[in-house]
Amino acid sequence: AERTLVLVKPDGVSRGLSGKILARVEAKGYRLIDLSLVSATREKLEAHYAEHVGKPFYEPLVEFMLSGPIVAAVFEGERVIEGFRSLAGATEPTTAAPGTIRGDFGRDWGLKVQQNLVHGSDSVESAEKEIGIWFS
Ligand code: GTP
Ligand code: MG
Repeated sequence: AERTLVLVKPDGVSRGLSGKILARVEAKGYRLIDLSLVSATREKLEAHYAEHVGKPFYEPLVEFMLSGPIVAAVFEGERVIEGFRSLAGATEPTTAAPGTIRGDFGRDWGLKVQQNLVHGSDSVESAEKEIGIWFS
């Protein structure tokens, strides 16, 4: 079955929302396969965000992802990649649709990076790569 990597980013963990966020993914019907509280490293982030290296928000994004612990999870189910991204909502939390994780729990905090609570893989290839980075 299809699998995706979900990260609860440092803002979600520090605000005490990890349990709520994971519960929403489980409530939608996806199966939790693996779960870990981890600290990112520059090396992991460079591999994870390879397509963003060199963009203006890359360094603030890395600093943000290094700012505290992250919850890494693998979920499984039919079309889980698409399903989780739909549940997460649009990248920008201020305007992400209400009912989504980012829309319900996130907002702009005036910082250089979007603190948008969660990451979800965007393709089968990314999911395989990212699961290998965070669960090795
Ligand atoms: P992820 O699930 O985290 O990959 O989010 P996404 O797929 O919705 O966004 P994307 O992969 O394009 O960007 C990765 C992360 O970089 C985002 O989640 C934001 O935290 C940040 N980011 C992306 N685009 C911008 C931008 O234009 N400005 C700023 N400040 N941050 C951005
Ligand atoms: Mg992305």
